[in-house]
Amino acid sequence: MAWPPTVHGPAAYQKLRFLTSPIGLLESCARRHGDAFRLLLGRPGLFVFSRPDHVKAIYTADTEVLRAGEAKRAIFGRLLGGASSLLLDGEPHLRRRKLLLPQFKGERMAMYASRIAAETRAAIARMPVGQPFALLPIVQSLTLRVMLSALLGPEDASSAPLWRAMERFATDAASSRLLMAPALQWDLGPYSPWGRVQRVVRAANGAVESEIQRRRARPNEGRDLLDLLLSSSDEHGASLTDAEVKDEVLTLVVAGHEITSMVLTWLVHAVISRPEVQARIDGELEAIGEHDVGGLTYLDSVVRESMRFHSVVPIGSARLATEDTRIGEHDVPRGAMVNVAIHLLHRRPEIFERPDEFRPERFSVEPRVGPYEWAPFGGGARRCLGMSFALFELKLITATLFSRVALVGLERPRAVRRGAFVAPSGGLRVVVKRLRAARPGSSERRAA
Ligand code: HEM
Repeated sequence: MAWPPTVHGPAAYQKLRFLTSPIGLLESCARRHGDAFRLLLGRPGLFVFSRPDHVKAIYTADTEVLRAGEAKRAIFGRLLGGASSLLLDGEPHLRRRKLLLPQFKGERMAMYASRIAAETRAAIARMPVGQPFALLPIVQSLTLRVMLSALLGPEDASSAPLWRAMERFATDAASSRLLMAPALQWDLGPYSPWGRVQRVVRAANGAVESEIQRRRARPNEGRDLLDLLLSSSDEHGASLTDAEVKDEVLTLVVAGHEITSMVLTWLVHAVISRPEVQARIDGELEAIGEHDVGGLTYLDSVVRESMRFHSVVPIGSARLATEDTRIGEHDVPRGAMVNVAIHLLHRRPEIFERPDEFRPERFSVEPRVGPYEWAPFGGGARRCLGMSFALFELKLITATLFSRVALVGLERPRAVRRGAFVAPSGGLRVVVKRLRAARPGSSERRAA
C-alpha cells in the first residue's frame, strides 16, 4: 500500500510536539517528507495533507467515507448531545446544514450589527489606558458575549441566569483542557475537575431547555438566533425538535466564540505591529466610516491575510476514514484520521507569492484564491457554518476598536498552543496609548 511517508521517532514524542508545538512539528515534517505524511498518533495514524489537490479530495469526498462528525465525537461528544450538527454525518448532517445555513447569511447580519458594536464599545471601556494588559482575555469575553447576544438576545434581568449558565458552559466546560485528556475524565463529585465540567454541562442543558419551553409558550418574535432556530423548517416543512434546538444552541457556543477570539487577537497583532497597515486602515475608516463593514475592502483583505498568516488551527478539518480510500496518489486505510495541514497549505509559494511576508494586497487582486488554497474555515460540506458571521464580526469589531483606541504592542508574541488552538504568547500584551475621538457618523456623535 502507498501510504504517505511515516514520520519516524517515538509516538509519545510526536504527541508531545503535536500538543505543544504543532506549527514546529508540521514544518519539520514537511521539510523532511513533503506534502503528505503520517504521524504516529493513534492507529493506524494521523494522515496529514497540504497540497491543494489533496485538500480538494478531502473536502469533496463522500461524507460517509470521510466522516467529520465521528472524528469529533471523542472530544465534543462529552459536551454536546448526539443531535448536534457538529457530530452528525452523511444525510442527517446535510439536512441539518440546509436548515441552519440561511440563519448565517449576509442579510441576517444587520440584526446582529448593533449588538456586536455595543459589546465592542463595552469591551473598550474595560481596557485600562496607559497600563499594560493582555488583550486575549478581554477579547475572549467579548466574542462570547457577541455569540450569546446573537443567540439569546441582549442580556437583561430576566435572561441573566441563562447567560450565567452559558458563560460557565463556555469557560468551564467548552474551554476545559480536560477535553483533550480522556484519561483524566473521572467524575469524582462536584469538587473534582471533571465532575465540575459534567455539572456545568448538565446545568447549561437544563437552562437552555427551560428557555426553549418558555419561548414555545409565546409568539415567536424572530429577534435572535434561538427564535430563528425554533421557527426554521426545511422544504418538506420539517422543523427542529426541542432537543435538536438545544444541542444546536450549545454547539454554536462551543464552535463560535473561542476560536474567533484567537483569530481576533492575532489580527490586532498583525495590524498594530505594522504601521503601514494601521495607517491604511485608519485612512479607510476615515473615508468610509466604521459601520459600512461591506465598504471596508482593505480591512477585509487584512482579515483574510491575517487568517492566512496566523493559523489558529494549524492542523484541522479532521475526518475519520470509515473504509479504505485514496487521497490523490496515497492510500488511506480504514480507521485513519485524515487532517488538512492548514498552516502548510497557507504557506505554499506557488499559491501565495513570498508566503512568509504579510501582504494584504494579495487578497484584493483577481482572481481571488480558491477554496482549496485558503481554508481557515475548513471546507466542503463541513465548512464552518459561521463563516459569514465570523468575517462580519471580525471586521465590525476591528473597525469599532481602531476607530476608538490606538493600541501599542509590548512584545513580539510567539505562537503557543492554547487548548485546541494556537494563540499569541502572553495573550498579546498591549497598552492603550490614547483614546481616539469618535469619528463623524459614529453612534456616539449621532447620539450627541
Ligand atoms: C474566525 C473564526 C472561526 C474560524 C477560524 C472557524 C473555523 C472553523 C473550522 C476550521 C471548522 C471545521 C471545518 C471542517 O471540518 O472542514 C469549523 C466548523 C464549524 N464552525 Fe467555525 N470558525 C469560526 C467561527 C465560527 C462562528 C462564529 C460560528 C457560529 C456562529 C462557527 C460555527 C461552526 C460550526 C457550527 C461548525 C461545524 C460545521 C459542520 O460540521 O457542518 N464558527 N469552523
